Amino acid sequence: MQISGGPSGRPPNAWDNIARDALDAVAAANQLRRPRDLDSGAPDTVLSSTGQPVLSFASNDYLGLTQHPAVRAAARAAVDAYGTGSGSARLIVGSRPVHSRLEARIAGWRSAEAAVLFTTGYAANLGVLDTMGRWASVICSDELNHASIIDGCRLARAPTRVYPHRDAAAVDRLLGDASGPGIVVSDSVFSMDGDLAPLADLSSVCAEHGALLILDDAHLVLDHPEPLHPGCRVLRVGTLSKAVGSLGGFVCGPRTFTDLLVNKARSYIFTTAAAPAAAAAATAAIDVIDSEEGDRLKARLRANIDRVRPGHRSPIIPIIVGDEDQALTASAALAAEGILVPAIRPPTVPVGTSRLRVTVSAAHTGDDLKRLTEALRGAGIDA
Ligand SMILES: Cc1ncc(COP(=O)(O)O)c(C=O)c1O
Repeated sequence: MQISGGPSGRPPNAWDNIARDALDAVAAANQLRRPRDLDSGAPDTVLSSTGQPVLSFASNDYLGLTQHPAVRAAARAAVDAYGTGSGSARLIVGSRPVHSRLEARIAGWRSAEAAVLFTTGYAANLGVLDTMGRWASVICSDELNHASIIDGCRLARAPTRVYPHRDAAAVDRLLGDASGPGIVVSDSVFSMDGDLAPLADLSSVCAEHGALLILDDAHLVLDHPEPLHPGCRVLRVGTLSKAVGSLGGFVCGPRTFTDLLVNKARSYIFTTAAAPAAAAAATAAIDVIDSEEGDRLKARLRANIDRVRPGHRSPIIPIIVGDEDQALTASAALAAEGILVPAIRPPTVPVGTSRLRVTVSAAHTGDDLKRLTEALRGAGIDA
């Protein structure tokens, strides 16, 4: 059969136009993005395409552990012991001692009864909300929660009510109106603003209403100052991909809950287990974090944050510019000086709140921070 083709020789297909038009719309909104390669994960690195030396203030490697000798060695040893991939889901034949050891290590580190591993933090949020949402009458979600929480709420079968940022009184009202057990979900450190959730108030409200509190600690590297109400049921989600310097996610809390996730969470069950090297690297990194060396790294991170914005509570330092084009221009001006600070724009953040998102690491040196603050000043930007 002869099929008439377009210029590429392929038959015309409506999807070619759909994809092109959609991509054109992204470009017309000046939002077209592509990954750019860097020669290494250290802050002081090189743009692979041009060879330009750059200093990055864009990574979530808050303690510099992606480059730590013990973490790298653990990954190499796991490759030698187990090979590269896991070959299967955890519940089939993909589980190795490195996975189970890591779960026990996370539980000990986070003072939880048990932990369950996911292949990313994103998958952990999908899994915990999809699962626990089956028995909830309502899910209350902060308006600035991370995309993975938003997607988890979409998967959950309970209705989601979005509450104003950090507003525990609004949560109290929503739970008061609920017909059965509710869930409250929040970033503990907000990923684009670097501010903290009101954990004392949220956990008190949850305790009063018998609601389950799900906290996403993806960016919690320095201690949160507020204790949780002891009567509150809490599940804590975390990522191994940021301060822990590897790849993966977890949920920790009472064992009944983690066992339930193992048996119900689709993003746990229907995906291949994490590469053994990633699990081994994460375990070694947690050993570092949970040691005196980890305390020193955190103290250094604290001091580095203070050099940019004294007293700011997290390594995510947003510099709100407002207008999208101005944020892009500011980011480009810094890039011309060899300083990488991304412009964050809608839809990642609300319209009118485009910003530069500076992330600081313990791996930055005093000179690195001096270069950043001078470049910001040179570009007329007040941190
Ligand atoms: C608040 C928050 N939760 C979850 C995630 C997802 O974690 P991961 O990168 O491990 O999938 C991220 C990271 O992008 C995040 O910022």
